[in-house]
Amino acid sequence: MNVLLIGSGGREHALALALANSPLLDRLFVAPGNPGTARVGQNVALDAGDFAQVIAFCRAEAIGLVVIGPEQPLVDGLVDALEAAGLKAFGPSKAAARLEGSKGFTKDLCAKYHIPTGAYERFVDREKALAYVREKGAPIVVKADGLAAGKGVVVAMTLEQAEQAVDALFSGAFGAAGAEAVIEEWLDGEEASFFALCDGEKAIAFASAQDHKRVGDGDHGPNTGGMGAFSPAPIVTPEMSARVMREIVEPTVAAMKAEGCPFKGVLFAGLMIGKDGPRLIEYNTRFGDPECQVMMVRLADDLLGLLLACAEGRLPEQVRLSPKTALTVVLAARGYPGTPLKGGRIEAIDAAEKIPGVSVIHAGTKLEGGQLVANGGRVLNVVALADSVAEAQALAYRGVDAIRFPDGFCRRDIGWRATGR
Ligand code: AMP
Ligand code: GLY
Repeated sequence: MNVLLIGSGGREHALALALANSPLLDRLFVAPGNPGTARVGQNVALDAGDFAQVIAFCRAEAIGLVVIGPEQPLVDGLVDALEAAGLKAFGPSKAAARLEGSKGFTKDLCAKYHIPTGAYERFVDREKALAYVREKGAPIVVKADGLAAGKGVVVAMTLEQAEQAVDALFSGAFGAAGAEAVIEEWLDGEEASFFALCDGEKAIAFASAQDHKRVGDGDHGPNTGGMGAFSPAPIVTPEMSARVMREIVEPTVAAMKAEGCPFKGVLFAGLMIGKDGPRLIEYNTRFGDPECQVMMVRLADDLLGLLLACAEGRLPEQVRLSPKTALTVVLAARGYPGTPLKGGRIEAIDAAEKIPGVSVIHAGTKLEGGQLVANGGRVLNVVALADSVAEAQALAYRGVDAIRFPDGFCRRDIGWRATGR
């Protein structure tokens, strides 16, 4: 079967590698891809926002499945357009992608179907939002309703920070995403990412992971798209996984079906696990980046077979994963998560890849006259697979230290929560 994979980040390079292992795969196209995916499949210059162009390409190349990596094409309705054209896609419809595209939608769904999450209110009026944060006090969490590339959330530890966040949001700091605010109870506990595959009717647990969202060591500094991750997350024991499926994921899949927008694809639950058990922070409707990179190296089943099963409504009973731990460190360009420095030279990736158990995934890279250079915020992921978090961590940093990228930086403490347990 021929597959078209949409996206250009580290997540898509990791998905491309896993898809390429499938006995079902004939040809793999990646749009637009990056220099890493170019080594696995064929990069094609398609604009995922131009549905007619994507559909024409799928027909011309006899694409059997379109796999959509990032959220924007899902929220824009690419899956609906493909299905209307008689093509198969992995990912939710536009209506189902509201679980990620609108925090207000998700919070209302949780309230209606008793899915555990923090108390909240929605606001379109600055004065009412300010009055609410003054009434509730800090800590409190202020969020833009729509997609804001992971930057639309302020966890305010003081009332002053909360007021500033409300002001910033209603003065257009997040563009259209900030036209509405969701103000939410601050949840205490340990965060974990939980992934489940869904076929519209049922869901199966895929894997757990932990991300490192802050830019600096010790979880300091501004939020990013994720500076590193490991899988599995020790806090998500088999008992906790069963509880998350029963209390959060399965009720959501049933709720989406009842609401007339069945969820197909991968449901990514951001959880806060506290003393009362797991509560939902947010949903994403795609694989996480960099969580995907660590889950894919653990996957023992055929990814293409699983994604097809989701699209066709015939999920198997379970997914097989290696019991080992995978850990990834993100190398980012200086300046990230602000304006990243472009063009920094990258050398000696092959030295890292020679270390047994280490692989290097491309994200924001570009080839310029044969020289690999940085072309985005998050540039590379060094991934290691080992018997424990501590071993995977040591191995990943050996890989990091083998690479020369003087205009880049990384966190030096990925995995600290697990190694410190
Ligand atoms: P989100 O974009 O909703 O995942 O939020 C970004 C980050 O803000 C999360 O990963 C959490 O670390 C934090 N956060 C979001 N909502 C809450 C909450 N209600 N309580 C505590 N922390 C939160
Ligand atoms: N790493 C978090 C995300 O993909 O949203």
